[in-house]
Amino acid sequence: MAEIIAGVGTSHVPAVGAAIDHSKGDQPYWAPFFDKIAPARDWMAETQPDVCIVVYNDHASAFSLELIPTFALGVASSFPPADEGYGPRGVPAAEGHPEMAWHLAESLILDEFDITIANKLPIDHGCTVPLSVMYDQPESWPCKIIPLCVNVIQYPAPTGNRCYNLGKAIRRAVDSWPGNERVAIFGTGGMSHQLQGERAGLVNTDFDLAFMDRLVSDPAGQAQVPHTEYLREAGSEGIELVMWLIMRGALDDQVREVYRAHHVPTSNTSNGLIILENAVSVTDPAAA
Ligand code: DHB
Ligand code: FE
Repeated sequence: MAEIIAGVGTSHVPAVGAAIDHSKGDQPYWAPFFDKIAPARDWMAETQPDVCIVVYNDHASAFSLELIPTFALGVASSFPPADEGYGPRGVPAAEGHPEMAWHLAESLILDEFDITIANKLPIDHGCTVPLSVMYDQPESWPCKIIPLCVNVIQYPAPTGNRCYNLGKAIRRAVDSWPGNERVAIFGTGGMSHQLQGERAGLVNTDFDLAFMDRLVSDPAGQAQVPHTEYLREAGSEGIELVMWLIMRGALDDQVREVYRAHHVPTSNTSNGLIILENAVSVTDPAAA
C-alpha cells in the first residue's frame, strides 16, 4: 500500500520565490534564511517522496470571489504556475497523479468530506513557493504533486478541527490506495502575518514557536484553537496556519521532529519550517 512517510509545514511567502527566481539567495538579507532551510533541502533530496500532497490556499489566482470552494483537490495531470499579476513564475508545471487523486477524492467524499474536484488548477505561490523551498530550482519537480486548496481567504474558513480531521481522512485514503508510493504531505501558509490594515506587519514569534511545539505534541489540543485566537495573536493572514493541521492529521499521533527552522522577517512575515516523520517508520523500525 501507499504510505505517508512525512509531513512538512512551511510558510509560502512570495518574496522567497522571487528571491530564488532572481538568484538573490546570497544577498545579506536572504542568506541567513536560505542557510536555515538548507538542511530541509538535504532531507528532501535524501527522502525523495514519490508524491507530494501540497495543502495550500489559492490567493484569488485560480478562484475569484465568484467561486469559493472550502476544499478543492487537483486531479489534473498537470498544474501550470498561475499568473499572479507579474506573469507566471518560471518554475516547472507540477505533474499530477490523476489516478491517485481521483482515489483520494472518492475516499474523502465517501468518508463525508465534500471535496470540490478541480480538473483545472493553476497553482500560485501558495503551492509553488513551498516546492521551491524544499527543492530549489530543478528543471522539473522530482515528484508527482497533488494540490489540495483550502479557503482561508474569505470568511468562513474551515475550523482547525475540521482541517485536523480532514488530515486523518487523507491518511485513510492514502492507506487504502493499492500503489506503493511514498507520500509526503505539505501544510503551508503562515506563520504570523498581516498584509493590510492597522496591524500590517504584525509578527508574533512566541505564538509561532508555541504553535509548532503544540503541533508536534498536542495537535488535538491545537485543533481546538478558534479562528479569533489566530486573528488576535497571528494577524489576519495567520489563519493560514490551520492548513498545517491537515498535514499533522495525516501523520501518526506520535511523530518525530526531524527539523525545524524559524526566521524573521521574510517580506513582512514570520517564516517557519518543520519536518515531521511518523515515530514508527516502516522502513526504519529501530528509530521508534
Ligand atoms: C505574503 C503573501 C502570502 O500569501 C503569505 O502567505 C505571506 C506573505 C506577502 O505578500 O508578503
Ligand atoms: Fe499566503
